Amino acid sequence: MCTDGVAPRRSRVGARCATPLVAALLLAACNGTTSYMDATGDAGHREATLGWWLTAVACAVVAFVIVAVLLGIARHRNDPHRGEEGVMERRDVKSGLSWIYVGVAVSVVILAISFAGTLVTLNAASRPSITPSMTIDVTGHQWWWEVTYSQANDPALGFTTANEIHLPVGEPVRVRLHSADVIHSFWLPQIAGKMDVIPGQVNETWLEARKAGNSRGMCGEYCGMQHAAMALDVTAESPEAFKQWADERRSGAATPTTASASAGRVVFVRSCGACHSVMGSDALGRVGPDLTHVASRTTIGAGALSNTPAHLAQWIQDAPGVKEGARMPAIPLSDAELRDVIAYIQTLH
Ligand code: CUA
Repeated sequence: MCTDGVAPRRSRVGARCATPLVAALLLAACNGTTSYMDATGDAGHREATLGWWLTAVACAVVAFVIVAVLLGIARHRNDPHRGEEGVMERRDVKSGLSWIYVGVAVSVVILAISFAGTLVTLNAASRPSITPSMTIDVTGHQWWWEVTYSQANDPALGFTTANEIHLPVGEPVRVRLHSADVIHSFWLPQIAGKMDVIPGQVNETWLEARKAGNSRGMCGEYCGMQHAAMALDVTAESPEAFKQWADERRSGAATPTTASASAGRVVFVRSCGACHSVMGSDALGRVGPDLTHVASRTTIGAGALSNTPAHLAQWIQDAPGVKEGARMPAIPLSDAELRDVIAYIQTLH
C-alpha cells in the first residue's frame, strides 16, 4: 500500500506510511497483555525501565538537535551582517570550538550512563536473587508448547501440561528450554526477555512474577507456517493459588459420570489416545499436548481458538483447516461420537 511513491510525492507518501507505523508502535506499546513495556516480572521490569530510559534519552537528543538547528537558522535570518542578496558579508566569525567541546563532553556522559545502566540491567536480569526451588522444562514443538513442572526436592511433585504457564508471585523459577524440531524462541514479554529454543541444546533462563495477573506468552522467532499461533497463557498468582493449581494438575482426570461422557472416553482413547494423553485413562500418547486438564484452558490449538464446544468440534473435525500445517489430522467421527467426545473433554478440568 506504500509503493505508489513517484519521486516528487515522496514526502507525502512517506508521511502516509509513517502514520500507521507510528500508530501500530504506540498500540503495541500500550497493549497491556503482550507489551514488554508494561512489565510485571522481575527481569522484565528491569528491562522495561532500561527501555524507557533509552527511549527518553534518544527523544531528548533528537529534540535538542532540532531546536539547535532551528535556532541557528533563526539567528542567520536575523543577522544584521546579511547583505541584500542574503550573502554574508566578510566579518570576524568566532570559531565555535568551545561548543564542540561541550557537545562531546555531554555526549560522552550520556553514553557512559546508558552503557553502565545496560550492564547493570543485563547483570541483574541474567540470574535470580535466590536459587529457584522449582524447575519448568519447556519444549517447543511446531506449533505448541509442552510444559513440565518438577520440584528439586521431590520428583513425585512433577506434572505436564501444555500451552499454559502458572507462576507463583515472588518466587523465581528455573526454565530449561528444549526443542522437538526447529528453532523457536520462548518469550513471556511481561515477565522476562526472550531465550532461543534450539534443537539438541538445553538453554536456561528464569522467570519471576512480581504481581498477579494474566498475560500472553509467545514464540519470538519465525518457526514455520503457524509461528503466530504458538501462544501460551501466562498466569501469575499467589503462592497459595499456585499450589492449588499444581495440586489439581498432579491429580488424574475424574471418571466421567454421564453416559455421554463415558461413551466419549471410549471414543477418545480409541481415536485420540495414540497422540494425546489423559492421566488416569488409557490414552497415553506423547505426540500432541497432554489433555488431562484441557477443559480448564482458555484456548485450544496454542491460542488458535477459544475453548468452546463449537470450537472443539471444529478443531477435532478439521484441525488443519483451522491451523494450516498443524500435525493433528482431521478425525472422522460420527455426529454422536463427536458429541460424546466433546462431553468427555469438557469433564477434563
Ligand atoms: Cu515457534 Cu515461532
